[in-house]
Amino acid sequence: MTQRDQLYEGKAKKVFLTDDPELLIVHYKDDATAFNGLKKGQIAGKGVINNKMSNRLMMLLEKEGIPTHFVREINDRDTIVKKVSIVPLEVIIRNIAAGSFSKRYGVAEGVVFDSPTIEFSYKNDELGDPLINDYHALALKIASEADIAQIKKYAFLVNEKLKAFWKECGVTLVDFKLEFGKTSDGTIVLADEISPDTCRLWDSKTGEKLDKDRFRRDLGGVEEAYEEIMKRLSAHI
Ligand code: TMP
Ligand code: ASP
Repeated sequence: MTQRDQLYEGKAKKVFLTDDPELLIVHYKDDATAFNGLKKGQIAGKGVINNKMSNRLMMLLEKEGIPTHFVREINDRDTIVKKVSIVPLEVIIRNIAAGSFSKRYGVAEGVVFDSPTIEFSYKNDELGDPLINDYHALALKIASEADIAQIKKYAFLVNEKLKAFWKECGVTLVDFKLEFGKTSDGTIVLADEISPDTCRLWDSKTGEKLDKDRFRRDLGGVEEAYEEIMKRLSAHI
């Protein structure tokens, strides 16, 4: 496997072509942004943690029958993944009110829902990732009805599996964002990453935030939170 030209640089990752047209290499950076890139910073060691955590969680999900882009970790910060065309939807599942849900609907953070919610944002930085519904996604030709149904099914299944896993680690899965992609044969697979950047993870006993909200909200102890959550995960997988 030989790394070739850089295909893309995102806020937290770089993506490289390889000599295999079906495979890419993802490189995880320590760069952190919030509020659509307005707040910028670094979280030392984040790239290593997010790479390893995302890979282990994707392996766990694969075992549970959810297809992912994960192929093989090559080192601390680099992973081989299947080349997919990303469906430009941010798929957000929530178990507990927090973040933009609390703000938008005037609900206190921490209110537990009877059943999880799902929402979609149109992945478009210039537009600020606006919220959209299924009908908008169809009108914008972002995805077909069948794609959307499959994505919803996988997203709720991911939630059940991750909620149970994090519970074993003494962590409450509050909410998270997923992205899906299509492989060359049209199969929908889970892509991007699953990490403290993309999930809200609260200590089950104390409610302490062990995720990127510490960076977003200037709470301090950012690196320590990433290390703590990685330690908890490592003790269980
Ligand atoms: P929100 O409450 O700000 O809408 O965030 C919901 C979840 O999605 C939370 O776990 C953080 C994650 N998220 C991302 O992964 N990327 C983003 O750009 C945003 C805004 C949220
Ligand atoms: N990825 C987002 C950004 O900078 C931030 C976030 O995770 O809140 O745009």
